[in-house]
Amino acid sequence: MLRICVCVSGGGTNLQAIMDAIDNGTVTNTKIVRVISNNKGAYALERARAKGIDAVAISPKDFENRELFNDALLAGVDEAEPDLIVLAGFLVVIPPKMIKKYEGRIINIHPSLIPSFCGTGYYGLKVHEAALARGVKVTGATVHYVDEGTDTGPIIMQKAVEVIDGDTPKTLQQRVMEQAEWIILPQAINSIANKKER
Ligand code: GAR
Repeated sequence: MLRICVCVSGGGTNLQAIMDAIDNGTVTNTKIVRVISNNKGAYALERARAKGIDAVAISPKDFENRELFNDALLAGVDEAEPDLIVLAGFLVVIPPKMIKKYEGRIINIHPSLIPSFCGTGYYGLKVHEAALARGVKVTGATVHYVDEGTDTGPIIMQKAVEVIDGDTPKTLQQRVMEQAEWIILPQAINSIANKKER
């Protein structure tokens, strides 16, 4: 059984997709052992609690400096003893200490076809604003392993999504979620869970 810790910052629709996929058997051999948010008000925490999943907020606002927050975040992850950390809309720079400790065991969903529209400053709606500004006709989403860079780790899965005339950042974001993110993030978790030898 792959024990996953899901880190979130906002609405948690990707978390919901993972929970639904576990419930309906699309994702097997997987248990969400904890959900962590950097944002106390994140609706994602409610989604997790509604399913009886341990859900905690670890907010930088509660710590004197970044280092103390980073230590608390790592401790919060460690406590859950995960095999895999899933960043599902987690808008926090992962502390280098955590990347080292969980090397090859952290994955992220990014709402574009990496290497387009990724790296520092590209998150959430900003990614779709940039895609529309550039006038691309196809965008999509990427699941990748997390390394020390921003969106630079090995790619696990990608799915393309068409841009439609008249799209706004919001309509494009919604289509990318529905047609790509909510599909490939559970798929990537399932493939990791089922290759796992334990
Ligand atoms: C998702 O679109 C995810 O790809 C993006 O944040 C959104 C979170 O939505 N992540 C990034 O931009 C990371 N760079 P959700 O809370 O509804 O899952």
